[in-house]
Amino acid sequence: MQSESDQTDPLRVVEFYSGVGGMHYAVLESKVPATVVAALDINTTANAVYRHNFPHVNLLQRDITGIKLPEFQSWNADVFMMSPPCQPFTRVGLKGDTADPRTKSFLYILDILRRMAEPPNHILLENVKGFETSETRSNLVATLDECGYCYQEFLLSPNQFGIPNSRLRYFLLAKRKPLTFAFEHQTDIMKEMPLIGSATPANQNTSSSEVVNQNTSQNKQEIPCPYSIFDPEDRDTTNCREISEFLEPHSKEEEEGLLLQDKLLDRYWKVLDIVTPSSRRSCCFTKAYGHYVEGTGSVLFSQTDVDAKDVFTKVSKSEDQSERLDLLHQLKMRFFSPREVASLHCLPPEFTFPQATTTKQRYRVLGNSLNAHVVAELFKLLVR
Ligand SMILES: C[S@@+](CC[C@H](N)C(=O)[O-])C[C@H]1O[C@@H](n2cnc3c(N)ncnc32)[C@H](O)[C@@H]1O
Repeated sequence: MQSESDQTDPLRVVEFYSGVGGMHYAVLESKVPATVVAALDINTTANAVYRHNFPHVNLLQRDITGIKLPEFQSWNADVFMMSPPCQPFTRVGLKGDTADPRTKSFLYILDILRRMAEPPNHILLENVKGFETSETRSNLVATLDECGYCYQEFLLSPNQFGIPNSRLRYFLLAKRKPLTFAFEHQTDIMKEMPLIGSATPANQNTSSSEVVNQNTSQNKQEIPCPYSIFDPEDRDTTNCREISEFLEPHSKEEEEGLLLQDKLLDRYWKVLDIVTPSSRRSCCFTKAYGHYVEGTGSVLFSQTDVDAKDVFTKVSKSEDQSERLDLLHQLKMRFFSPREVASLHCLPPEFTFPQATTTKQRYRVLGNSLNAHVVAELFKLLVR
């Protein structure tokens, strides 16, 4: 099949809300000939990380709403990639949607799209689950219709791609007509990668999605402690890679620095999401990971010589705080390091942080980022 990526010149990509460059890494992983001609973000910490890894990219430290139409046109872009701020759409947030000031820059991009003489042929957008029911999404698809795009929406998580991490996200691919998708377009949101041509899945690792929802609540009740083998998205993750493949060697000192502190252990031990090196799942890492533990991402237990269930049973029966802490210390539970979180986000080994970026900042920018492998697969699909 003739691919749009077969064109002689590399595709010109503009990366809006570039953060640490998750979209850029996805483009690189896809091997589609493409160049990021401009990246834009307002956040100085994220930009320092981006610049450290991509020193030659035209990274603009600017508020998108300050960029006028001629500058948009001057990029002569083939692709707009973007992950706008997700707080206005999160399930636990206030759902400010179009009224939230953080949506303003995205609505501004939509307005620019309508006014561009030559809008880009391709658009790839990422956001949280929840975006699909928002008024902002309605504005987006109305703009795409008006500007002559066809589009396909998705809800996908890395654990459908063999990555042991849950990060269910909304994605939208749009192509300017007369370009068409290489797969059968659906009006409904696709919850799996589509088949291309005969019976070849667009992604070879999607087999785990075929066995979704086979976990039973009966199984869950058999685990008498927070240590659980079940994926929060209720997917069977047996086809995912092991967590051990994503772990880094640490010095004793680094390992100590990653251990859960007493105040977190004593207060939150019941709500920890604990995984082991042989687990094939982990929870979504958020920007508060590393200093909050409830719902911010999994922690790691790797003491093979300790019976975790026995320890948790004793902890749950103990009335004495120092006894509970002594017991919990035996488990040596630790946070995943920022580099390990980056690996679970499929950011390649070349991705590093500037030395000046603190651990808290590293978790924060990673929590805002995305899974580069999922986006790479979607990008290939977009330009196919
Ligand atoms: C969800 S994060 C995107 C993360 C990015 N995809 C990555 O891989 O790190 C949203 C980003 O948008 C940036 N941002 C928010 N409002 C902006 C604006 N008005 N202009 C430019 N950047 C903005 C934030 O600083 C944040 O880095």
